[in-house]
Amino acid sequence: MASIVFFLLLSFSLLSAGKPLPKSTIFRPRLTSDPTTTNDISPTTYFEVTKPIQLPNTKPYSKLVLQHDFGYTYGSPPVLAEYTPPANYPSNDFAKIVLEWTATCKGRQFDRIFGVWLGGVELLRSCTAEPRATGIVWTVKKDITRYHSLLMNKQTLAVYLGNIVDDTYTGVYHVNVTVHFYPAEKKMKMPVNSDHLHNQWADLIIPISRSLPLDDGLWFEIENSTDVKSKKFVIPQNAYRALLEVYVSFHENDEFWPTNVPNEYISANNLTGFPGNGPFREVGVSLDGNVVGAIWPFTVVYTGGVNPLLWRPITGIGSFDLPSYDIEITPFLGSILDGESHDFAFRVRNALNVWYIDANLHVWLDGKSEKTNGKFLMQKISPLHVSLESNFTGLNGTFVTKVNRSIKSSGWVQSSFGKIVTESTQEFDYSNFMVMRKDGDSQIVNQMINFNDSVYAKMPSSVLSKKSLKSFSFYIFSDTVEKGKGSYSEIANITLGFNEKKIDDLGSKSSSSVLENLQNGQGSMLVKGNLVVSGLGSTQQMYNYGDDKFCYFRDISSSNYTIIYDKEGSTCSKRKKSRFDFAMGKRWPFPARRALKASDRHAM
Ligand SMILES: *[C@@H]1O[C@H](CO)[C@@H](O)[C@H](O)[C@H]1NC(C)=O
Ligand SMILES: *[C@@H]1O[C@H](CO)[C@@H](O)[C@H](O)[C@H]1NC(C)=O
Ligand SMILES: *[C@@H]1O[C@H](CO)[C@@H](O)[C@H](O)[C@H]1NC(C)=O
Ligand SMILES: *[C@@H]1O[C@H](CO)[C@@H](O)[C@H](O)[C@H]1NC(C)=O
Ligand SMILES: *[C@@H]1O[C@H](CO)[C@@H](O)[C@H](O)[C@H]1NC(C)=O
Ligand SMILES: *[C@@H]1O[C@H](CO)[C@@H](O)[C@H](O)[C@H]1NC(C)=O
Ligand SMILES: *[C@@H]1O[C@H](CO)[C@@H](O)[C@H](O)[C@H]1NC(C)=O
Ligand SMILES: *[C@@H]1O[C@H](CO)[C@@H](O)[C@H](O)[C@H]1NC(C)=O
Ligand SMILES: *[C@@H]1O[C@H](CO)[C@@H](O)[C@H](O)[C@H]1NC(C)=O
Repeated sequence: MASIVFFLLLSFSLLSAGKPLPKSTIFRPRLTSDPTTTNDISPTTYFEVTKPIQLPNTKPYSKLVLQHDFGYTYGSPPVLAEYTPPANYPSNDFAKIVLEWTATCKGRQFDRIFGVWLGGVELLRSCTAEPRATGIVWTVKKDITRYHSLLMNKQTLAVYLGNIVDDTYTGVYHVNVTVHFYPAEKKMKMPVNSDHLHNQWADLIIPISRSLPLDDGLWFEIENSTDVKSKKFVIPQNAYRALLEVYVSFHENDEFWPTNVPNEYISANNLTGFPGNGPFREVGVSLDGNVVGAIWPFTVVYTGGVNPLLWRPITGIGSFDLPSYDIEITPFLGSILDGESHDFAFRVRNALNVWYIDANLHVWLDGKSEKTNGKFLMQKISPLHVSLESNFTGLNGTFVTKVNRSIKSSGWVQSSFGKIVTESTQEFDYSNFMVMRKDGDSQIVNQMINFNDSVYAKMPSSVLSKKSLKSFSFYIFSDTVEKGKGSYSEIANITLGFNEKKIDDLGSKSSSSVLENLQNGQGSMLVKGNLVVSGLGSTQQMYNYGDDKFCYFRDISSSNYTIIYDKEGSTCSKRKKSRFDFAMGKRWPFPARRALKASDRHAM
């Protein structure tokens, strides 16, 4: 009986971050004593390690599009502002457009999820940094050039940041949103509309989100595994390519979905109020009721997640700029070129409350014809192969979940580029090893997702292709010790890995890039009544990016708010070899993997 109580505490402490609803905040551990001494008065700068945006050598035109203080905003409409495109610039002449979010905050506040939408199109999904008594500041810069066509028109900007301010949560977020427009360098023209996949940016972006007015974010909320949310849309009849960009984030009972236990474990142990449904999640997207693709998302950990001290000042991978995922829609275009209304629908396999999902439909239009036509050819969806091995006695046990599937679709579109057959393939592979020990007070999870997307455009004379090979790793070791009087101490080690290799073969223009981004953290904390009263968090990160023109690496570590080391560089030559060795299939020497083996032996 006692052990069950401790386990609940453990899981509540894991269930800490990014929870958007006030009712759940009682479970969130937080700092009651700020470790900063009073003579340290400068605000702490939080940041996510990522590569700098490559900018043209031109002077930007910068526009402050929103300045707002986010106080008590729950149940309120998003903050709105009228957006007007830059005047006096020929509309096609921007080589780069960058969104900049800057915020300051002082006091006590949790991590909050927020979104920025323009004309209903989501531009940024992010999480706030957690403030401290001496104040914090952080900036997120995002390359939003792909929304070029949207940004050239008048729109309504909407920002929703659900926050609560009272005697306990005193932090108000002071926010500026700025857009920087970088004109193209004289000799660099925008890519001409020469063929099917060359034209980088869509001509039109259609929001697949909830419409204003709303007292919430524009995202759809998916509350359980049968919940389906959909949106109707119409596309112009001269479209020749379409791509759906999907934003997802997971909260409350699914915030740490890779650590959710199988339901049989919950029922065998008579546990209640416990996040279950096992550790596998899949976001499914359908068009008029037919599957068009899936997303097996990266496990973003928000700035208060697992142990809030881990993310100060280096924040978790993707937490300031959540990844979005592209699904090629061109094979299905033939079915929606009729000028009629169609709908996209979202669901999440095994979902618990709550997932926030919406999407942007990027559409390319044929400038030389009024009407294109097309036909959906075929689809092959492998059934979801799920295997679950579970072996538990009471609250101790091991669970191995393995899942894979593939989705392949093809169709043709006839436009002024000719008749092009597009074949799109998604391949997924998932494994999750979970060990529960000490009657549930200790948990180890080692999860790996491999997620490949490829698109082939077959023309009479050539084949163009775009591939993205992704691998997302997640490891956690957590151990809780009960200290009496409603307090406990917890150790948590975490590893997050986001790797992506992209290979584009566009005939005359081929390119490739490799990103390896690995984060390790070790945290300890003493929690009393769900308040973190003391503790220590340390994080190490290796970021390594390279493409044909640009390389960037950063090797950085922080502990207890202090940067321990920080090596940064942009030389390609030295790193090139190891980078490509890795890319060709070798794995990181995952400490996670070794740790799991060691603890397996322990368990026996
Ligand atoms: C963390 O840093 C603070 C000063 O900012 C110091 O007082 C405290 O002892 C440090 N904690 C540990 C565990 O090193
Ligand atoms: C926002 O912009 C205003 C005007 O430029 C400036 O005074 C203020 O300090 C900025 N706030 C933040 C959080 O950057
Ligand atoms: C799932 O969520 C939807 C939306 O809130 C609700 O209508 C439905 O009853 C829920 N289904 C189950 C099985 O809980
Ligand atoms: C769970 O509840 C059932 C029925 O009340 C009981 O028979 C069983 O022993 C309980 N199991 C545990 C592990 O407490
Ligand atoms: C998918 O999973 C099934 C069942 O676990 C397995 O037999 C099959 O080999 C897997 N396929 C791939 C491509 O990994
Ligand atoms: C289940 O776990 C127990 C205890 O660790 C072990 O002795 C047993 O061999 C395991 N059974 C299987 C089928 O793996
Ligand atoms: C993804 O592609 C790579 C390289 O072709 C391959 O090794 C890997 O098995 C693929 N993954 C899946 C899930 O198909
Ligand atoms: C569960 O495992 C712990 C060691 O991790 C052991 O002390 C405890 O007795 C085990 N509980 C049961 C019910 O086997
Ligand atoms: C957790 O991290 C600590 C500190 O680096 C290390 O001593 C310990 O071995 C790690 N444990 C596991 C299981 O990863």
